[in-house]
Amino acid sequence: MALAISFAFLLLFPVVAQSGNVEFVFNGFTGREENLTTSGASIIKPTGLLRLTNSSKNVIGHAFYEDPIQIISRDSSLYPNASSFSTSFVFAIVPPSSGEGGYGLAFTLSPSKQFPGAQAGHFLGILNSSNDGNSSNHIFAVEFDTVKGYKEVSDSEGNHVGININSMSSVAQKPASYSEEDSGTRTDEVKLESGEPIQAWIEYNGTEQVVNITIAPSPVAKPTAPLISHHVDLTPFLTETMYIGFSASTGEKSSSHYILGWSFSMKGSAPPLNLTQLPVPPGKEKSASSFKPTVIAVIATLSAFTLILLGALFSLTLYKMLGHHESLEEWEIDCPHRFRYRDLYAATKGFKESEIIGAGGFGKVYRGTLPATGSEVAVKKIVRNSANGMREFAAEIESLGRLRHKNLVNLQGWCKRTNDLLIVYDYIPNGSLDSLIYKPKPNFVLNWEKRFNILKGIASGLLYLHEEWEQVVIHRDVKSSNVLIDAEMNARLGDFGLARLYDHDILSHTTNVVGTIGYIAPELARTGKVSTSSDVYAYGILLLEVVSGRRPIGSSNFILVDWVIERHQMGQILDAVDPKLNSTCVVEEVEMVLELGLLCSRQKPEARPTMRQVTRYLSGDDPLPNIEDWGSVDSRTLREMNSRMLKSLISGETVTTSYVSSTTGAISTCSIGSGR
Ligand SMILES: *[C@@H]1O[C@H](CO)[C@@H](O)[C@H](O)[C@H]1NC(C)=O
Ligand SMILES: *[C@@H]1O[C@H](CO)[C@@H](O)[C@H](O)[C@H]1NC(C)=O
Ligand SMILES: *[C@@H]1O[C@H](CO)[C@@H](O)[C@H](O)[C@H]1NC(C)=O
Ligand SMILES: *[C@@H]1O[C@H](CO)[C@@H](O)[C@H](O)[C@H]1NC(C)=O
Ligand SMILES: *[C@@H]1O[C@H](CO)[C@@H](O)[C@H](O)[C@H]1NC(C)=O
Ligand SMILES: *[C@@H]1O[C@H](CO)[C@@H](O)[C@H](O)[C@H]1NC(C)=O
Ligand SMILES: *[C@@H]1O[C@H](CO)[C@@H](O)[C@H](O)[C@H]1NC(C)=O
Ligand SMILES: *[C@@H]1O[C@H](CO)[C@@H](O)[C@H](O)[C@H]1NC(C)=O
Repeated sequence: MALAISFAFLLLFPVVAQSGNVEFVFNGFTGREENLTTSGASIIKPTGLLRLTNSSKNVIGHAFYEDPIQIISRDSSLYPNASSFSTSFVFAIVPPSSGEGGYGLAFTLSPSKQFPGAQAGHFLGILNSSNDGNSSNHIFAVEFDTVKGYKEVSDSEGNHVGININSMSSVAQKPASYSEEDSGTRTDEVKLESGEPIQAWIEYNGTEQVVNITIAPSPVAKPTAPLISHHVDLTPFLTETMYIGFSASTGEKSSSHYILGWSFSMKGSAPPLNLTQLPVPPGKEKSASSFKPTVIAVIATLSAFTLILLGALFSLTLYKMLGHHESLEEWEIDCPHRFRYRDLYAATKGFKESEIIGAGGFGKVYRGTLPATGSEVAVKKIVRNSANGMREFAAEIESLGRLRHKNLVNLQGWCKRTNDLLIVYDYIPNGSLDSLIYKPKPNFVLNWEKRFNILKGIASGLLYLHEEWEQVVIHRDVKSSNVLIDAEMNARLGDFGLARLYDHDILSHTTNVVGTIGYIAPELARTGKVSTSSDVYAYGILLLEVVSGRRPIGSSNFILVDWVIERHQMGQILDAVDPKLNSTCVVEEVEMVLELGLLCSRQKPEARPTMRQVTRYLSGDDPLPNIEDWGSVDSRTLREMNSRMLKSLISGETVTTSYVSSTTGAISTCSIGSGR
């Protein structure tokens, strides 16, 4: 008989359950895709967040540990007890900006990872109205529910924690709260739906037959007194093997449900989570969570009087800081790269004049220190006239924010506030390449070795954008002032891809820079059509600029390319080298780079090399092709643009020209400013 049962069991459960010593800790879920089975709306985000549901109505999401655990021992004892287990996890429930969200999540033990027919809303994606309460469900769940129960169920309170066995009606429940060690009997409410990280501990002792549930806002240490301590023998309700994981759902009202980290053990207490390694829930930066307990601690020690005074002062500062409440649109909540305005405001000391480190075609750039991490950032502030296209903009930045290369300035994120756009980059200490060439500190000369290394770095960054990332990114504004130099004197290309936003007609009310005079490829000036070849053209001009120490276009119709070609045709190309380099240069390298500059800036796009070829020339892997006739540069466009630019500089106007949009084919006007 016993044999038959275990045989049937094996047939039913071909997956071998893990023996009773399963233990794991997931500090974030990056690289844990194989350890979890997700279904429904659940995904693991690149930041390591496990998102169980998005904020759509009536969605369900599940995430379960891959293998089942053996919860009831298969040994010969007549009534083996359900095994002890202990788990801890940090979750965040982010409500929509507009009012209340709804429904919740549950830590769940289930005989299966699938829940066919399960309903959203208060069934939390576990049960449905026809099987609710049926003992054949074999479900044990601890629910974190944010909505007052319907009349037919007994969840009398919103914002509560409950123990559910085979039914969505809890056998035990309490309003979500915790009490801190030194606060005596006072308990503080924990608002589950705050969007802030909350840690939960669930422990079952199979000998004592007690389930303890404890919660606290993260990073508060585990309170000694459990919120719920419920006596129940789980043995009759469970099957021998169970899957462990999470289920969540939304209803007519909806919140996004996230798990930040999770640990589990059948041997004793769940291993502690390393809270510093956990991903940050969207819309809530670390500063908020690390700052709360301090405030609570401070407040606890203050008298009522100072409390009121402080409170008034605090809210006044807050009011001043924010101007008004930071309102988020629905689509903004799930963006991992979104910053909070108040953090950027604090970082830049309120966008103080003294913190400005640059100004470009797009707007002013401020230096800042993020309050949460102390890391330095550059914040670019773009003032716009309309909020149209913000969503596309955010999508673009979210995408560009995933670009990572040692020769690119990392784009950390963005923030929108009414009509202002803020873009956050790594702060790069040594300023831009053009200032090092044209306005160096006294007694500083950028020697040849460094210049050559910088040029190789830019090539490598451009190659990554053109060919090595998941999609082709055209920089569109390669120039010396867009190359920043880091502490190790390596080049970091900035502002990549941003010009693409013009195609979305997002920045149409600001000065419309499609490139910078002197670096614009002839075909680009004529047709407005950008390509990787137009980036190569600009890179060619940059090569000539860095070797010669001369700007691409100067007064009295000076055009750098023409000037270098003339020197080359006279057999005196070395005359084009920056006199400041004098003895430091390596003649073969300098010659090669100048010729490569000419090759890249050839008139016809087809005649230019790709960035991959360029890197091979620079590294000496391939010799430069032998070009007999450099041809005469069709300087007409350049000269025409040059005189237009001079005119505009004199008159202070921007020059307008027509071009054909690369995406829509429509003819539109664009203005060309000097870009500086
Ligand atoms: C996670 O999955 C990997 C690959 O299947 C496996 O090697 C590892 O042991 C798993 N870790 C846990 C904690 O289950
Ligand atoms: C939310 O997830 C559901 C199910 O995966 C999907 O159909 C829906 O489009 C998502 N909603 C949003 C706003 O992403
Ligand atoms: C309820 O769930 C059960 C078991 O998963 C399923 O068989 C049944 O079809 C579902 N009922 C409804 C009305 O969806
Ligand atoms: C409970 O579920 C089982 C299997 O789905 C079904 O046969 C049984 O009729 C259900 N019991 C009740 C009371 O609904
Ligand atoms: C549950 O909490 C009670 C009361 O604090 C404690 O005595 C007991 O040891 C706890 N049990 C577990 C399994 O944590
Ligand atoms: C099983 O539970 C009983 C109480 O119902 C307890 O006396 C016994 O010690 C438990 N056995 C084990 C192996 O934990
Ligand atoms: C369960 O409770 C018993 C008796 O209080 C204790 O000896 C044992 O260590 C506990 N087990 C776990 C896993 O906490
Ligand atoms: C937690 O993670 C941080 C950062 O990875 C590390 O420095 C620290 O030592 C870890 N703490 C523990 C207790 O493992």
